[in-house]
Amino acid sequence: MSLAFKQETFRDDYTFRNSPEAIRRFPFPFPEDQYMYSVNIEPHTPGPKGAVTEFTLDVDEHYVAECRDKAITLEQDPGRCASLPHMMDAEWDFLEFSMESLARDYPEQFSLSKNGKAWTWVNRPLGLEQSFVFGDAATLPMGPFEYMGRQVQGDFVLLDQREDTLFADAGIVTSQADWSLAFNVGMSWHEWHGPVPQVTKLGVMDRALKFLMSLQQGNPVRRLNWTMTINPRLDTSPENYPLWGGDRNKVTEQNAGELAHLRVELQTLFRMPRSNAIVFSIRCYLISMQEMATYPRWAKRFHRVLRDLHPDLVEYKGITKYQQAVVAWLSRFDDGADIGTGT
Ligand code: HEM
Repeated sequence: MSLAFKQETFRDDYTFRNSPEAIRRFPFPFPEDQYMYSVNIEPHTPGPKGAVTEFTLDVDEHYVAECRDKAITLEQDPGRCASLPHMMDAEWDFLEFSMESLARDYPEQFSLSKNGKAWTWVNRPLGLEQSFVFGDAATLPMGPFEYMGRQVQGDFVLLDQREDTLFADAGIVTSQADWSLAFNVGMSWHEWHGPVPQVTKLGVMDRALKFLMSLQQGNPVRRLNWTMTINPRLDTSPENYPLWGGDRNKVTEQNAGELAHLRVELQTLFRMPRSNAIVFSIRCYLISMQEMATYPRWAKRFHRVLRDLHPDLVEYKGITKYQQAVVAWLSRFDDGADIGTGT
């Protein structure tokens, strides 16, 4: 992936587009013609060169524009970053984890030098240089979690493990698929997953929690989740629903290729060394139907997934109003022939 950062927007005039290279590495999440929730967790081992999983944290051509969009959202609503007082060790864990992985994997863009507890961080794409004392929040312009949370694409939740469950006790969340950090902060695993349909019956949440409780440091895991978004908008939060909810009524069979986007979340989970917290990273990738159709096999697959999606999932994912228009737009790519398994 070349790191020529694009100037683009995720609101108002929506100039976001994917380059052909970004389309090629898009994490298309459907190995089969049908989709249902499952415990789709796998080790977060390095993927092939250029893949979104090549490195611990993925930096791509949208990095600068996404960080700018995040800053706008945080300026308008500082409550998108929250951290309970007992999470300070986890905040420093997060700062160290993110600085070290970015500096190691993208040395041309980021660097970190350490002299005992006196550290200097350089972020060239955003033009930042910061010397500070590790462990002393007064030496940073803001809390350590927010400081680095603003400099990595995607959302982050810090999970505290106690009482045989996980608690979402800190988060920086500006590109979420219609859930609210302010509402969920401090909640436990089963509380925040309460609204998700079908999963209790399938046993997905109990098994996933059991698995994550024994997550080991140095053995991170990942999964993909997906939904759809109209326009390439990162901030589809309940707080700002009036700004984007109405767009769902604008989709027609004619404009679906441009307006409708598949929104894939690459979710990764890392155990932290000091606090024993888990860093939960939710990285959002957007692709318009038009862009997806440059790989006709994807359009054909997604046509089948969307057409046959369980009605509870259609409703939960907020697709009801435009499902038919998108299915009609995609149908031209589907000749009905078998595609086999795999993406
Ligand atoms: C929603 C599964 C980890 C927070 C969901 C959904 C599924 C799911 C299937 C419904 C998504 C959709 O249809 O778009 C899992 C599994 C996990 C996991 C298998 C194991 C790795 C987490 C973690 C968090 C989290 C660590 C931390 C905060 C959420 C939230 C929602 C959600 C906030 C939206 C709930 C709502 O509707 O209000 N999850 N999840 N998940 N998940 Fe998870």
